[in-house]
Amino acid sequence: MKTRITELFNIQHPIIQGGMHFVGFAELAAAVSNAGGLGIITGLTQRTPEDLANEIAKCNALTDKPFGVNLTFLPTVSSPDYPGYIKAIVEGGVRIVETAGRSPQAYMPALKEAGIKVIHKCTSVRHALKAESIGCDAVSVDGFECGGHPGEDDIPNMILLPRAAEELTIPFVASGGMADARSLVAALAMGAEGMNMGTRFIATKEAPVHQNVKDAIVAASELDTRLVMRPLRNTERVLNNPQVEKILAKEEELGKDIKFEDIIEAVAGVYPKIMMDGEMDAGAWSCGMVAGLIHDIPTCDELISQIMQEADGIIKDRLATLAS
Ligand SMILES: Cc1cc2nc3c(=O)[nH]c(=O)nc-3n(C[C@H](O)[C@H](O)[C@H](O)COP(=O)(O)O)c2cc1C
Repeated sequence: MKTRITELFNIQHPIIQGGMHFVGFAELAAAVSNAGGLGIITGLTQRTPEDLANEIAKCNALTDKPFGVNLTFLPTVSSPDYPGYIKAIVEGGVRIVETAGRSPQAYMPALKEAGIKVIHKCTSVRHALKAESIGCDAVSVDGFECGGHPGEDDIPNMILLPRAAEELTIPFVASGGMADARSLVAALAMGAEGMNMGTRFIATKEAPVHQNVKDAIVAASELDTRLVMRPLRNTERVLNNPQVEKILAKEEELGKDIKFEDIIEAVAGVYPKIMMDGEMDAGAWSCGMVAGLIHDIPTCDELISQIMQEADGIIKDRLATLAS
Protein backbone atom coordinates (compact mmCIF):
# COMPACT_ATOMS: atom_id res chain seq x y z
CA MET A 1 0.00 0.00 0.00
CA LYS A 2 1.36 3.39 -1.03
CA THR A 3 0.38 6.49 0.92
CA ARG A 4 2.00 9.87 1.50
CA ILE A 5 3.50 8.39 4.68
CA THR A 6 5.07 5.35 3.01
CA GLU A 7 6.52 7.70 0.38
CA LEU A 8 7.79 10.21 2.95
CA PHE A 9 9.59 7.61 5.07
CA ASN A 10 10.42 5.16 2.28
CA ILE A 11 8.67 2.27 4.02
CA GLN A 12 6.56 -0.58 2.64
CA HIS A 13 3.52 -0.37 4.94
CA PRO A 14 1.91 2.73 6.54
CA ILE A 15 2.43 1.45 10.09
CA ILE A 16 4.59 3.17 12.71
CA GLN A 17 5.67 1.96 16.15
CA GLY A 18 5.52 4.98 18.44
CA GLY A 19 8.35 5.73 20.87
CA MET A 20 7.80 4.00 24.22
CA HIS A 21 9.82 4.47 27.37
CA PHE A 22 11.76 1.27 28.25
CA VAL A 23 10.08 -0.58 25.35
CA GLY A 24 11.44 1.13 22.25
CA PHE A 25 14.88 -0.47 22.18
CA ALA A 26 16.78 -1.49 19.04
CA GLU A 27 15.32 -5.02 19.03
CA LEU A 28 11.74 -3.79 18.66
CA ALA A 29 12.52 -0.92 16.29
CA ALA A 30 14.47 -3.24 13.99
CA ALA A 31 11.76 -5.92 14.07
CA VAL A 32 9.09 -3.39 13.04
CA SER A 33 11.28 -1.92 10.31
CA ASN A 34 12.25 -5.36 9.02
CA ALA A 35 8.53 -6.15 8.79
CA GLY A 36 8.08 -3.15 6.48
CA GLY A 37 6.81 -0.63 9.05
CA LEU A 38 8.71 2.18 10.75
CA GLY A 39 10.35 1.18 14.04
CA ILE A 40 11.32 3.88 16.52
CA ILE A 41 13.96 3.88 19.27
CA THR A 42 12.98 5.88 22.35
CA GLY A 43 15.74 8.47 22.77
CA LEU A 44 15.32 9.37 26.42
CA THR A 45 15.28 5.76 27.62
CA GLN A 46 19.00 5.94 26.81
CA ARG A 47 20.58 7.76 29.74
CA THR A 48 23.17 9.67 27.71
CA PRO A 49 23.74 10.64 24.06
CA GLU A 50 26.56 8.04 24.03
CA ASP A 51 24.10 5.33 25.08
CA LEU A 52 21.73 6.45 22.32
CA ALA A 53 24.59 6.30 19.80
CA ASN A 54 25.21 2.68 20.86
CA GLU A 55 21.52 1.79 20.59
CA ILE A 56 21.39 3.32 17.09
CA ALA A 57 24.49 1.33 16.08
CA LYS A 58 22.81 -1.82 17.39
CA CYS A 59 19.68 -1.10 15.36
CA ASN A 60 21.77 -0.38 12.26
CA ALA A 61 23.31 -3.84 12.68
CA LEU A 62 19.86 -5.46 12.95
CA THR A 63 18.20 -3.80 9.95
CA ASP A 64 19.04 -2.05 6.71
CA LYS A 65 15.54 -0.53 6.56
CA PRO A 66 14.70 3.01 7.72
CA PHE A 67 14.00 3.50 11.43
CA GLY A 68 13.54 6.57 13.59
CA VAL A 69 14.30 7.95 17.04
CA ASN A 70 11.72 9.48 19.41
CA LEU A 71 12.60 12.67 21.25
CA THR A 72 10.07 13.51 23.96
CA PHE A 73 9.97 17.05 25.30
CA LEU A 74 8.12 16.62 28.58
CA PRO A 75 8.19 18.86 31.63
CA THR A 76 11.15 17.48 33.57
CA VAL A 77 13.09 18.97 36.45
CA SER A 78 16.43 18.96 34.65
CA SER A 79 16.36 19.23 30.85
CA PRO A 80 18.03 16.32 29.05
CA ASP A 81 20.94 17.06 26.70
CA TYR A 82 18.76 17.38 23.57
CA PRO A 83 21.54 18.81 21.36
CA GLY A 84 23.69 15.82 22.36
CA TYR A 85 20.89 13.37 21.50
CA ILE A 86 20.36 15.09 18.13
CA LYS A 87 24.10 14.82 17.40
CA ALA A 88 23.94 11.07 18.13
CA ILE A 89 20.93 10.75 15.81
CA VAL A 90 22.60 12.65 12.96
CA GLU A 91 25.95 10.87 13.34
CA GLY A 92 24.19 7.50 13.55
CA GLY A 93 22.71 8.11 10.11
CA VAL A 94 19.10 8.18 11.33
CA ARG A 95 16.88 10.14 8.92
CA ILE A 96 13.60 10.21 10.84
CA VAL A 97 12.74 11.72 14.23
CA GLU A 98 9.43 11.43 16.06
CA THR A 99 9.04 14.37 18.41
CA ALA A 100 6.45 14.48 21.18
CA GLY A 101 5.41 16.46 24.21
CA ARG A 102 6.17 20.13 23.87
CA SER A 103 6.76 21.84 20.53
CA PRO A 104 10.04 20.81 18.82
CA GLN A 105 10.43 24.37 17.43
CA ALA A 106 13.74 25.10 19.17
CA TYR A 107 15.33 22.00 17.64
CA MET A 108 13.83 22.21 14.14
CA PRO A 109 16.78 24.11 12.59
CA ALA A 110 19.27 21.46 13.78
CA LEU A 111 17.06 18.61 12.59
CA LYS A 112 16.24 20.18 9.23
CA GLU A 113 19.85 21.18 8.52
CA ALA A 114 20.76 17.52 8.92
CA GLY A 115 18.06 16.54 6.39
CA ILE A 116 15.97 14.73 8.99
CA LYS A 117 12.25 14.12 8.44
CA VAL A 118 10.25 15.12 11.51
CA ILE A 119 6.92 13.64 12.54
CA HIS A 120 5.46 15.39 15.59
CA LYS A 121 2.99 13.56 17.81
CA CYS A 122 0.22 15.76 19.14
CA THR A 123 -3.21 15.51 20.68
CA SER A 124 -5.05 18.48 19.17
CA VAL A 125 -5.66 20.12 15.80
CA ARG A 126 -4.14 23.39 17.01
CA HIS A 127 -0.89 21.67 17.99
CA ALA A 128 -0.87 19.81 14.66
CA LEU A 129 -1.25 23.11 12.81
CA LYS A 130 1.57 24.60 14.86
CA ALA A 131 3.76 21.60 13.94
CA GLU A 132 2.92 22.16 10.28
CA SER A 133 3.77 25.87 10.56
CA ILE A 134 7.23 25.22 12.02
CA GLY A 135 8.20 22.82 9.24
CA CYS A 136 7.34 19.34 10.52
CA ASP A 137 6.95 16.90 7.64
CA ALA A 138 4.06 14.97 9.16
CA VAL A 139 2.10 14.60 12.39
CA SER A 140 0.93 11.68 14.43
CA VAL A 141 -2.52 12.57 15.78
CA ASP A 142 -2.99 10.96 19.20
CA GLY A 143 -6.64 10.59 20.25
CA PHE A 144 -8.07 10.45 23.77
CA GLU A 145 -7.99 6.62 23.65
CA CYS A 146 -4.20 6.52 23.48
CA GLY A 147 -1.81 4.96 25.94
CA GLY A 148 0.50 7.54 27.52
CA HIS A 149 -0.27 11.26 27.44
CA PRO A 150 -3.57 12.10 25.69
CA GLY A 151 -3.38 15.83 26.51
CA GLU A 152 -6.20 17.69 28.20
CA ASP A 153 -8.81 18.10 25.43
CA ASP A 154 -10.29 14.59 25.58
CA ILE A 155 -11.21 14.36 21.88
CA PRO A 156 -11.44 10.76 20.63
CA ASN A 157 -10.15 9.80 17.21
CA MET A 158 -13.59 9.54 15.55
CA ILE A 159 -13.70 13.33 15.79
CA LEU A 160 -10.03 14.27 15.98
CA LEU A 161 -8.93 12.53 12.77
CA PRO A 162 -11.55 14.04 10.43
CA ARG A 163 -10.90 17.42 12.08
CA ALA A 164 -7.18 17.01 11.38
CA ALA A 165 -8.02 16.11 7.78
CA GLU A 166 -10.08 19.30 7.46
CA GLU A 167 -7.22 21.52 8.60
CA LEU A 168 -3.87 19.98 7.72
CA THR A 169 -1.87 20.08 4.52
CA ILE A 170 0.96 17.80 5.66
CA PRO A 171 0.18 14.07 5.95
CA PHE A 172 -0.82 12.58 9.29
CA VAL A 173 -1.15 9.14 10.84
CA ALA A 174 -3.81 8.06 13.31
CA SER A 175 -2.50 7.19 16.77
CA GLY A 176 -4.31 5.86 19.82
CA GLY A 177 -6.62 2.86 19.82
CA MET A 178 -5.08 1.37 16.66
CA ALA A 179 -4.65 -2.41 16.73
CA ASP A 180 -5.55 -4.17 13.51
CA ALA A 181 -6.74 -3.97 9.90
CA ARG A 182 -10.05 -2.44 10.96
CA SER A 183 -8.15 0.38 12.66
CA LEU A 184 -6.01 0.99 9.58
CA VAL A 185 -8.90 1.08 7.12
CA ALA A 186 -10.95 3.32 9.45
CA ALA A 187 -7.97 5.65 9.86
CA LEU A 188 -7.53 5.86 6.09
CA ALA A 189 -11.27 6.54 5.69
CA MET A 190 -10.97 9.46 8.10
CA GLY A 191 -8.17 11.04 6.11
CA ALA A 192 -5.06 9.61 7.78
CA GLU A 193 -2.21 8.23 5.65
CA GLY A 194 -1.41 5.39 8.03
CA MET A 195 -1.39 4.51 11.70
CA ASN A 196 0.87 4.64 14.74
CA MET A 197 0.61 1.94 17.42
CA GLY A 198 2.03 1.81 20.91
CA THR A 199 0.33 -0.70 23.20
CA ARG A 200 -0.22 -3.24 20.37
CA PHE A 201 3.53 -3.41 19.69
CA ILE A 202 4.34 -4.15 23.36
CA ALA A 203 2.44 -7.43 23.04
CA THR A 204 4.74 -8.82 20.34
CA LYS A 205 7.40 -11.51 20.53
CA GLU A 206 10.25 -9.08 19.83
CA ALA A 207 9.27 -6.37 22.33
CA PRO A 208 12.19 -6.57 24.80
CA VAL A 209 10.03 -6.38 27.93
CA HIS A 210 9.17 -8.91 30.64
CA GLN A 211 6.55 -11.52 29.71
CA ASN A 212 4.36 -10.25 32.59
CA VAL A 213 3.87 -6.95 30.71
CA LYS A 214 2.69 -8.71 27.55
CA ASP A 215 0.41 -11.03 29.58
CA ALA A 216 -1.07 -8.04 31.44
CA ILE A 217 -1.99 -6.37 28.14
CA VAL A 218 -3.57 -9.55 26.75
CA ALA A 219 -5.52 -10.03 30.01
CA ALA A 220 -6.75 -6.41 30.16
CA SER A 221 -10.05 -5.23 28.74
CA GLU A 222 -10.96 -1.81 27.34
CA LEU A 223 -12.30 -0.93 30.81
CA ASP A 224 -9.01 -1.38 32.62
CA THR A 225 -7.13 1.89 31.99
CA ARG A 226 -7.30 4.98 34.20
CA LEU A 227 -6.24 8.61 33.79
CA VAL A 228 -3.72 9.79 36.38
CA MET A 229 -2.09 13.20 36.97
CA ARG A 230 -5.14 15.01 35.58
CA PRO A 231 -5.04 17.68 38.34
CA LEU A 232 -1.37 18.33 37.41
CA ARG A 233 -2.38 18.85 33.74
CA ASN A 234 0.02 16.06 32.82
CA THR A 235 -2.65 13.43 32.20
CA GLU A 236 -1.44 9.91 31.53
CA ARG A 237 -3.50 6.88 30.55
CA VAL A 238 -2.19 3.87 32.47
CA LEU A 239 -3.22 0.30 33.24
CA ASN A 240 -5.06 0.12 36.55
CA ASN A 241 -3.26 -1.51 39.50
CA PRO A 242 -3.03 -0.91 43.28
CA GLN A 243 -0.47 1.91 42.83
CA VAL A 244 -2.78 3.64 40.35
CA GLU A 245 -5.67 3.33 42.83
CA LYS A 246 -3.41 4.98 45.42
CA ILE A 247 -2.57 7.87 43.08
CA LEU A 248 -6.26 8.42 42.32
CA ALA A 249 -7.11 8.37 46.04
CA LYS A 250 -4.37 10.96 46.69
CA GLU A 251 -5.68 13.11 43.84
CA GLU A 252 -9.17 12.99 45.30
CA GLU A 253 -7.92 13.71 48.82
CA LEU A 254 -5.67 16.68 47.92
CA GLY A 255 -7.67 18.10 45.01
CA LYS A 256 -6.17 21.19 43.41
CA ASP A 257 -3.43 21.36 46.07
CA ILE A 258 -1.75 18.16 44.86
CA LYS A 259 1.90 18.39 43.84
CA PHE A 260 4.01 15.99 41.80
CA GLU A 261 5.93 15.11 44.99
CA ASP A 262 2.73 13.68 46.53
CA ILE A 263 2.62 10.85 43.97
CA ILE A 264 6.25 10.71 42.89
CA GLU A 265 6.89 7.21 44.30
CA ALA A 266 4.24 5.67 42.07
CA VAL A 267 5.27 7.41 38.85
CA ALA A 268 8.96 8.32 38.83
CA GLY A 269 11.62 5.78 37.94
CA VAL A 270 9.21 2.84 37.93
CA TYR A 271 9.58 1.80 34.28
CA PRO A 272 12.70 -0.39 34.64
CA LYS A 273 11.03 -2.36 37.47
CA ILE A 274 7.89 -2.89 35.39
CA MET A 275 9.28 -3.40 31.90
CA MET A 276 12.53 -5.22 32.77
CA ASP A 277 11.72 -7.03 36.04
CA GLY A 278 8.02 -7.63 35.42
CA GLU A 279 6.95 -6.14 38.77
CA MET A 280 3.55 -5.13 37.46
CA ASP A 281 2.45 -3.31 40.60
CA ALA A 282 5.63 -1.24 41.03
CA GLY A 283 3.87 1.89 39.77
CA ALA A 284 1.83 3.46 37.00
CA TRP A 285 2.68 2.55 33.41
CA SER A 286 1.18 3.78 30.15
CA CYS A 287 -1.31 1.54 28.40
CA GLY A 288 -4.06 2.27 25.88
CA MET A 289 -7.76 1.34 25.92
CA VAL A 290 -6.84 -0.71 22.86
CA ALA A 291 -5.68 -3.44 25.28
CA GLY A 292 -9.29 -4.64 24.93
CA LEU A 293 -8.56 -5.53 21.28
CA ILE A 294 -5.27 -7.33 21.95
CA HIS A 295 -5.64 -11.08 22.40
CA ASP A 296 -2.33 -12.53 21.22
CA ILE A 297 1.44 -12.07 21.14
CA PRO A 298 2.53 -12.39 17.49
CA THR A 299 5.88 -11.49 15.94
CA CYS A 300 5.99 -7.99 14.43
CA ASP A 301 6.12 -9.56 10.99
CA GLU A 302 3.04 -11.70 11.67
CA LEU A 303 1.21 -8.68 13.08
CA ILE A 304 2.01 -6.30 10.24
CA SER A 305 1.50 -8.92 7.49
CA GLN A 306 -1.89 -9.85 8.93
CA ILE A 307 -2.95 -6.21 9.18
CA MET A 308 -2.01 -5.48 5.57
CA GLN A 309 -3.61 -8.66 4.24
CA GLU A 310 -6.85 -8.13 6.14
CA ALA A 311 -6.95 -4.43 5.27
CA ASP A 312 -6.86 -5.42 1.62
CA GLY A 313 -9.73 -7.82 2.26
CA ILE A 314 -11.83 -5.20 4.05
CA ILE A 315 -11.32 -2.69 1.26
CA LYS A 316 -11.80 -5.05 -1.69
CA ASP A 317 -14.33 -7.56 -0.36
CA ARG A 318 -16.43 -5.54 2.06
CA LEU A 319 -16.21 -1.84 1.23
CA ALA A 320 -16.04 -2.24 -2.56
CA THR A 321 -19.17 -4.44 -2.52
CA LEU A 322 -21.01 -1.93 -0.37
CA ALA A 323 -20.11 0.85 -2.78
CA SER A 324 -21.46 -1.01 -5.80
C1 LIG B 1 4.39 1.95 27.78
C2 LIG B 1 4.28 3.17 26.91
C3 LIG B 1 5.30 4.11 26.95
C4 LIG B 1 5.24 5.25 26.13
N1 LIG B 1 6.28 6.14 26.15
C5 LIG B 1 6.27 7.18 25.28
C6 LIG B 1 7.39 8.06 25.21
O1 LIG B 1 8.37 7.92 25.95
N2 LIG B 1 7.34 9.08 24.31
C7 LIG B 1 6.27 9.25 23.49
O2 LIG B 1 6.28 10.18 22.67
N3 LIG B 1 5.19 8.44 23.53
C8 LIG B 1 5.17 7.41 24.41
N4 LIG B 1 4.10 6.55 24.42
C9 LIG B 1 2.96 6.77 23.48
C10 LIG B 1 3.08 5.92 22.21
O3 LIG B 1 4.18 6.29 21.44
C11 LIG B 1 1.82 6.05 21.34
O4 LIG B 1 1.63 7.40 20.96
C12 LIG B 1 0.59 5.55 22.04
O5 LIG B 1 0.86 4.37 22.73
C13 LIG B 1 -0.53 5.32 21.04
O6 LIG B 1 -1.65 4.81 21.67
P1 LIG B 1 -1.98 3.23 21.75
O7 LIG B 1 -1.23 2.74 22.93
O8 LIG B 1 -3.45 3.20 21.92
O9 LIG B 1 -1.51 2.60 20.48
C14 LIG B 1 4.12 5.44 25.26
C15 LIG B 1 3.09 4.48 25.25
C16 LIG B 1 3.15 3.36 26.05
C17 LIG B 1 2.03 2.37 25.98
